[in-house]
Amino acid sequence: MAHSHHGHDRLVGSAWTREQALERLERPERRQSEDPDDLWTRVGLAPGATVVEVGAGTGYFALPAARKVGPRGRVFAVDLSEDLVELLRERREKESLPQLVPVRSGRASIPLDSGIADVVLLANVLHDISDPTLSEAVRLLKPDGRLVNTDWNKERTPVGPPVEVRLTPSQAEQRLGALGLAVVGRWAFGPWHYAIVLRRSGGPRRSSARGHPRRPPVHRSARGPDSPSSPPRSSKGRTARNRR
Ligand SMILES: C[S@@+](CC[C@H](N)C(=O)[O-])C[C@H]1O[C@@H](n2cnc3c(N)ncnc32)[C@H](O)[C@@H]1O
Repeated sequence: MAHSHHGHDRLVGSAWTREQALERLERPERRQSEDPDDLWTRVGLAPGATVVEVGAGTGYFALPAARKVGPRGRVFAVDLSEDLVELLRERREKESLPQLVPVRSGRASIPLDSGIADVVLLANVLHDISDPTLSEAVRLLKPDGRLVNTDWNKERTPVGPPVEVRLTPSQAEQRLGALGLAVVGRWAFGPWHYAIVLRRSGGPRRSSARGHPRRPPVHRSARGPDSPSSPPRSSKGRTARNRR
């Protein structure tokens, strides 16, 4: 299925090539409409946290996350594309960010252990990824972990995917809600995007990082810091089992 997207065919649910990704995801002006540091500040990403980004592309969000979590944290940057996993490895070396761990995923599996993530990020991918990939993303969350979904508003913008494939925030919330997640925060992220934060709806009510009990999810701000995370994992997760 091909849609016009920045003058190129849009590859639904496909691994992007390095060339496609650099052209679309590293536009110099992108920072004005989607500032990754702003997203992570708003999420309240803490040093030492473990993040997984599913569909990490060129690392536009994952590299700033790696700087924020610091050497005691981990950012698993997961992508279907071997090209992009290689690009992420190069960036990890060039930027001296050993806490950034590129991971090649399979179509229906992510070779990482369950329950490792304080934060799972889906950025501009929910409209593209399959149900099995999404279940895998949720599997990676710690019991009190948060899933952050940011995506294009469903309206015309000068760049971005075709309007007809985009999801409204409520469509996104429905899809994620079906996996047992409940919304705990949402905001406009720049002029063209929204951000939604969700947690497991049946998850344990644990006290927050500051030791205060959490208020009911609907009233809670998404700005709270991550709870101090467990020591860095020495393992990089299971070995890839879905090589193509
Ligand atoms: C629209 S780009 C978004 C990249 C990045 N999140 C950003 O916002 O800059 C989508 C990325 O998801 C990857 N992708 C597509 N389907 C995937 C899947 N099922 N699992 C993992 N990655 C996937 C593609 O290879 C591509 O790099």
